[in-house]
Amino acid sequence: MITKKALENIKKLLKKHNQSHLLAFWEQLNTAQRQNLLAQIEELDFSKMDDLVANHIKKPAFSAIGADFAPARSYSPNPADAEQKHKYAQAGELGRELISAGKVAAFIVAGGQGTRFGFDSPKGNFPISPVKNKTLFRIFAETIAAVSEKYQTICPWYIMTSPLNYAQTKEIFSSNNYYGLRESDIFIFQQGTLPNFSFDGKILLADKDKISCSPDGHGGSLKALYQSGALEDMKKRGVEFASYFQVDNPLINIFDPLFIGLHALDEAEMSSKAVVKTEPKEKVGVFCLVDGKVTVIEYSDLPEELTEKRNPDGSLVFGLGSIAIHIIDCTFVEKLNARGFSLPLHRAIKKIPHIDEKGRPVEPAEPNGIKLESFVFDALPLASKSIILQTLRSEEFSPVKNPTGPDSAETAKEMMIARAAGWLESAGVTVPRKPGDSVDATLEIAPSFALEKDDIKAKLNQIPEIKPNDKLYLA
Ligand code: UTP
Repeated sequence: MITKKALENIKKLLKKHNQSHLLAFWEQLNTAQRQNLLAQIEELDFSKMDDLVANHIKKPAFSAIGADFAPARSYSPNPADAEQKHKYAQAGELGRELISAGKVAAFIVAGGQGTRFGFDSPKGNFPISPVKNKTLFRIFAETIAAVSEKYQTICPWYIMTSPLNYAQTKEIFSSNNYYGLRESDIFIFQQGTLPNFSFDGKILLADKDKISCSPDGHGGSLKALYQSGALEDMKKRGVEFASYFQVDNPLINIFDPLFIGLHALDEAEMSSKAVVKTEPKEKVGVFCLVDGKVTVIEYSDLPEELTEKRNPDGSLVFGLGSIAIHIIDCTFVEKLNARGFSLPLHRAIKKIPHIDEKGRPVEPAEPNGIKLESFVFDALPLASKSIILQTLRSEEFSPVKNPTGPDSAETAKEMMIARAAGWLESAGVTVPRKPGDSVDATLEIAPSFALEKDDIKAKLNQIPEIKPNDKLYLA
């Protein structure tokens, strides 16, 4: 029952923050719709609303780059000297021990809307593998199963969705029988949302009783882990580290003993993998040290002279690109939440469907509003320590963002084939190549066959001769 007084109070609050239009259709709503709308309004954080509108919606947030701004240090893909060789061996050993002891969980963020990609289902359900057309979710599930088998352990899998794709994702997992994993080892949960705004600072309505919202960005994962009970579940299982990855990267090496081991040996709280940027203007976040803290700076925020600056050997001074692969300590997530924290909000200008002041649906052809999101890498400076391990793009990073062209399903398939070819060749298998060196075969290596290059050597007797234009699936 909504009392007259309660309604008056809400009206006053909305008026104070210039959002009275949210109740424009009140007289047309039935009781359930009214309650529904009020519940959504109560979720909004009015204490921050005016600041948000003034400093994020009506103009881009001011981003200050610290005075003490330097390139970040990183571990190279291969050890540089004998001392480092020893450390890498020790880290690899420790990483394997931690995985075997069940202290590492897979943690995927799959709550994005994938608007650039435009696939009418959660992105994880997109079929991508070159021969068997396995979906992204299936590839990850098979990897987790193979790791569990290799290390004789159980690796739980935490899956962050959003309120917009939670039900669909649950349905996909259940109708695929959890891809052979145990349902009890998979924890699917939801992130929070933030309202969408028009350019003049008004919250958009998706319907007469519904506020238009979007997932609060992958940065929302650090709160969602805590609020959903996922973190508690990790603690109960003895999990200490979450291996964070994105749903759109089929090349991800989810359980990398070296990365996990270096993170643990160095007592870092949140660590990252990086690749060397292909060119100064490549649109990836760049690792820097800001006031001594590892920080990712968006490519657009890095001053041009620094973007272009080179070392004497020709490499870029600020050349470490962020690829959204992290190890996150569970205690770090707990600490952040226990003391209260917030990550900066970033604005994105987007096409946002909504209803207009007469209640008519609007499907904008051009960007018409602003979505706000937080980024997980903004938590890096909050960590007491953070390490970076460089890796090779061709081995671990092929994001599927666009329907065609760069970073599409097509380029990811090519990279999956190229990586499989490289692994086979490194074990002495001959792979046919076309002039120009591209692979002249369609190759797919199942995680059950090899999780890494070195697993191939033991299976050479199972690999047939590969002829030009062959299709080969190794499982
Ligand atoms: P992207 O930044 O590519 O965003 O997400 P997106 O929403 O998937 O795609 P566009 O920008 O609309 O085209 C990178 C990763 O972060 C996850 C995505 O699912 C993807 O794994 N993500 C993003 C979330 O889990 N939640 C979010 O709110 C945003």
